[in-house]
Amino acid sequence: MSKQKSSLKKRDSEAIWHPLTQHKTHKYSLPLSKAKGALLYDEKGNSYIDAICSWYTAMYGHCNDKLVKTISKQAQELDQVIFSGFTHKPAIDFAEKLLNILPEGFSKVFYNDNGSTATEIGIKMALQYHYNKGAERNTILAFEEGFHGDTFGAMSASGLSVYNGPFEEHFIKVVRIPKPNGENNAEVLSQLKQLCNDKKIAGFIYEPLIQGAAGMKIYDKSGLNDLLTFCKSKNIICIADEVMTGFGKTGTCFASEQIKEKPDIICLSKALTAGMLPMGATVCQSFIYEAFYDKAISKGLFHAHTYSGNPLACAVALEAINLYQSSEIQQNIQHVIQAHRHFMAEIHNHPKLKDIRQLGVILALDLNIEMERYGNMRDKIYAFFMERGIYLRPLGQTVYIVPPYIISREELSQIYRAFREMLNEF
Ligand SMILES: Cc1ncc(COP(=O)(O)O)c(C=O)c1O
Repeated sequence: MSKQKSSLKKRDSEAIWHPLTQHKTHKYSLPLSKAKGALLYDEKGNSYIDAICSWYTAMYGHCNDKLVKTISKQAQELDQVIFSGFTHKPAIDFAEKLLNILPEGFSKVFYNDNGSTATEIGIKMALQYHYNKGAERNTILAFEEGFHGDTFGAMSASGLSVYNGPFEEHFIKVVRIPKPNGENNAEVLSQLKQLCNDKKIAGFIYEPLIQGAAGMKIYDKSGLNDLLTFCKSKNIICIADEVMTGFGKTGTCFASEQIKEKPDIICLSKALTAGMLPMGATVCQSFIYEAFYDKAISKGLFHAHTYSGNPLACAVALEAINLYQSSEIQQNIQHVIQAHRHFMAEIHNHPKLKDIRQLGVILALDLNIEMERYGNMRDKIYAFFMERGIYLRPLGQTVYIVPPYIISREELSQIYRAFREMLNEF
């Protein structure tokens, strides 16, 4: 180990508290020195394919030249400015572009900082929508096992207790239903109808088509559609959390495009800025905005983040959409989808596989072994891939990838090869 590397590791361990990390059992983090395209490099020059795009952000590859240029140009013109009372062209250009590519009916973009704030604001919009209308609605509906972020509203709506245990008594009111799986659709709908009689439900937050943190669990589209139709008939505000799915990962720009019933609010982050800068956006239909539009200040949405509408983030988000719409990226996406299909067809009967599934560029497989979400075996699988130059984060028995659209055929083959080896080894 080089002196420089050990010193960075040591300095890190002395000064930094990392997210989702138990430092007693995970003392050191690996210092990275650069990234380009699909690859991350450590200080020794070892490369790792970023098979989950650094938590689903850098979909067009790391340090993409166009995006770097855009940020650099914007930084020389207008940097951070307050977004209450001021506005600027990058924020307006991006909002117009986003509204243009979202399903019909979305009319206002509320800028924020990250995925949790995007969903937190979606929840607040739903609650205050009813409050402003004088309706007594105090409960949020969510799916079991959903994940919506780490702020209190988002945490309350999330159903993964591994993250939320210590805070549960402080949560906002949430009721949960199972995901529809095609067989239980009628049952889930009748559960929802019952809950609607008993509880004052203001909004329904859901990850459309696939629950990411739950282990890339794909669920039934038509069952979801029925739930949304029912919610809309009861004036329950439907909030699509597309923080993970947004910008092409499920095969369409937004997962909600694949569902007939559209959301009233959509929450975006992650690939929004292509992994270059932190930003979130909560976008709503005009009837939501109108419920806040009033002479009374108190009816407004009094929520702000210092970096809301940051010009650099808006400029890079606009360029990211241009990239997404380019024929080159669209072809790349199709290539990844086809490659996944071939791999799945080849491997789906493997005896060590409990399940393998795909949605767009997302590929997930469940190993036929009982495992803890963050246990020893999980760490072994993580190390197994790192030794083979692949970075991914297994979630218990689920190993999944969300590769960058620009990943090369060779890099994808390297990942598939490692999957096969893993199935033989574990
Ligand atoms: C569906 C979903 N919603 C919200 C979040 C929270 O986003 P952030 O980590 O940017 O706060 C995540 C993060 O993984 C997510 O997958």
